[in-house]
Parts: sequence; C-alpha cells; structure tokens
Amino acid sequence: MERLPDMKRIAIYPGTFDPITNGHLDLVERSLRIFDELIIAVAPSHKKKPLFTISERLKMIKRSLRHYRRARVEAFEGLLVEFVERRKGIAILRGLRAISDYEYELQMAHMNRRLKTDIETVFMMPSEEYSFLTSSIIKEVASLGGSLRGLVPKNVEIELKKKCSM
Ligand code: COA
Repeated sequence: MERLPDMKRIAIYPGTFDPITNGHLDLVERSLRIFDELIIAVAPSHKKKPLFTISERLKMIKRSLRHYRRARVEAFEGLLVEFVERRKGIAILRGLRAISDYEYELQMAHMNRRLKTDIETVFMMPSEEYSFLTSSIIKEVASLGGSLRGLVPKNVEIELKKKCSM
C-alpha cells in the first residue's frame, strides 16, 4: 500500500514490560527520531507469569513516558498485527540486543509479515550499556536487594522495592 505524504508514521512497540527498563526507554527515544508517534503495546503475557498486573505496568510506563509527547502506552490482547492495523501503525518496533535475540525475533517478524504483509518490523539496537538488560534480570536483582540505579526509571525502582518487600 502506498503511503500518502501527510500520513503519520506510527510505530507500535510491543512487549511484556514487566517492568519497563531504561533499555526499553532508550529504544523509545531512538525510534522517535524515525517515527512521528510511538505506541507501547503491553501484552498480558500470562505464560510469563508477570510480577506486575497489566494496570501496574501501564501506570509505570505512563509515568516513564511523561517527557515524551509523541509516545503513549496501551494494553492489547489477541494478535499483535491486528492491534497495529487498528491503530494505523506502519511498523512494529523490536529491540535487538545480542545475537541470541535474533532467531526468536526473526520467527516473530516472519510470522507477523505472513499475517499482514504491509506491516514492517523494524529492529533497533539499544545503547551498549543496556545490551545485557532484561526485565527478568532486573526482577532478580531487585528481589536480592541489589542496586538498580541507572537501569530502570526511579518510579519503577520504587515499585519493585514495594513488590519485593511484600
Ligand atoms: N531493554 C531491556 N530489556 C529488553 C529490551 C531492551 N531494549 N528489549 C527486550 N528486552 C527484554 C524484555 O524485558 C524481556 O525480558 P523478560 O523475558 O525477562 O521478560 C525480553 O527481553 C523479551 O521479551 P519482550 O520484549 O517482553 O517480548 P516478549 O517476547 O515477551 O513479547 C510479544 C512478545 C508480546 C511481542 C509477542 O508475544 C506478541 O506479539 N504477542 C501477541 C500475540 C501474537 O500476535 N502472537 C504472534 C506473534 S508472531
């Protein structure tokens, strides 16, 4: 489908975000240099047994995005490509941190392309300093009382401390 010149370039950044990290925010910032708008799309990901509920994740992300006027957050269920289509997105944004991400990401990108051929997947590399980060490693360090300074937004650090002391 040919895009009209005045169409907004909207990208969708899907994931579990349990919780959002500075690595995710690094990608948000980079992607806004390319796209007009970014929607962080939070999947329930029941299989991963998330620590935070969907509404807790949305709240933390919303607060973390307060300095970005062109980025917002929403929850979605069902097929990602259908959500992208409903929001008139032109691309799915995913981060590639290391070679180990590649195979899984390739599978998802090919499947999403098969489901909707005109939605592109765009991969971006986060800054090197976040290339080892995952939400799981953040939760593990938090549960053992380690410092997360510089790795997650302050509000997320506070929420993690609260959860871990429950
Ligand atoms: N900084 C820090 N961590 C990062 C990161 C970055 N830049 N990029 C990825 N990660 C981490 C995530 O925090 C996550 O860590 P975790 O496994 O410890 O939770 C991990 O890398 C990757 O997981 P995530 O980004 O949450 O993606 P996911 O693989 O859980 O999510 C969906 C996959 C939700 C996008 C996918 O399942 C989906 O599209 N579901 C909808 C249903 C659908 O359409 N299915 C068909 C798809 S082909």
